[in-house]
Amino acid sequence: GIPKFVKIVEVGPRDGLQNEKNIVPTDVKIELIHRLASSGLSVVEATSFVSPKWVPQLADAKDVMQAVQNLGGIRLPVLTPNLKGFEAAIAAGAREVAVFASASESFSKSNINCSIEESLARYRAVTLAAKELSIPVRGYVSCVVGCPVEGSIPPSIVAYVAKELYDMGCFEISLGDTIGVGTPGTVVPMLLAVMDVVPVEKLAVHFHDTYGQSLPNILVSLQMGISAVDSSVSGLGGCPYAKGASGNVATEDVVYMLNGLGVKTNVDLGKLMSAGDFISKHLGRPSGSKTAVAFSRV
Ligand code: HMG
Ligand code: MG
Repeated sequence: GIPKFVKIVEVGPRDGLQNEKNIVPTDVKIELIHRLASSGLSVVEATSFVSPKWVPQLADAKDVMQAVQNLGGIRLPVLTPNLKGFEAAIAAGAREVAVFASASESFSKSNINCSIEESLARYRAVTLAAKELSIPVRGYVSCVVGCPVEGSIPPSIVAYVAKELYDMGCFEISLGDTIGVGTPGTVVPMLLAVMDVVPVEKLAVHFHDTYGQSLPNILVSLQMGISAVDSSVSGLGGCPYAKGASGNVATEDVVYMLNGLGVKTNVDLGKLMSAGDFISKHLGRPSGSKTAVAFSRV
């Protein structure tokens, strides 16, 4: 059977806004995070402490983090690619971080400018520093079924990277279909390989919706026992270093499906849609959530 409760990890303010052509003003980001928090989400990824030359969209990470750090009842992790980012995140008030590795050498190089092994060495340094401060670290694996350069990725490599992240102390491993090419046909064998080496309760899934496969991929993941799902309000998102990748699966659509399955999330769909409406209006385009668009018509 599927889990009775699913934890949704909202990644819109980070994965979504990192990929916007026009830089979103800091106060809009802060208001978005407030609105997402008030919808009942328990985890909202707030921003990234990465190089502003690589991701200018999130160059205001310090200001965003400082403004939201005292929001109660919510976890606000931030991405940290190295110790420099980790230290800046902690100085700005972050109390949870995420490191991001890849199952594709080419993507590792284009996204973080180093090999998979080099990235794992950096992340060991980050997890060690985090342990001393009792800061939880989440680990991402990107390109878990496909890479824009290398094509299909063998499940054994995904399992290897996931286990390395788990062994260095990551409390949860999020498996990312960065370019959204996966279907249940490729996602199931990948999950089976990872579940062989990392306990299923430590896994999360992170689907981009390029080919419209996110919801079936999430459903099969739930059937396999996964109970943590990443998504992005209004389907914002993409990765600046993964050309052609579209946004994450929309959080509204995930909540609608989970409501239909009788799975609890503690998220208020109405409030969530109003957060989505706020950011879509700011960006000047219709929501990427089919659920939000459908409700706006009735
Ligand atoms: P590099 O150029 O190799 O770094 O970049 P470096 O160590 O040689 O440093 C170069 C410059 O960057 C120096 O500054 C450093 O101080 C600075 P300069 O002396 O030239 O003025 N620097 C930093 N500045 C701020 N914060 C830092 C930092 N580190 C170095 N943390 C680096 C390597 C990793 C920094 C770079 O490649 C980078 O920032 N990459 C981030 C890319 C990114 O954010 N991608 C999107 C997130 S991943 C994703 O979206 C996938 C995911 O959603 C899951 C999925 O969908 O699969 C998570
Ligand atoms: Mg992503």
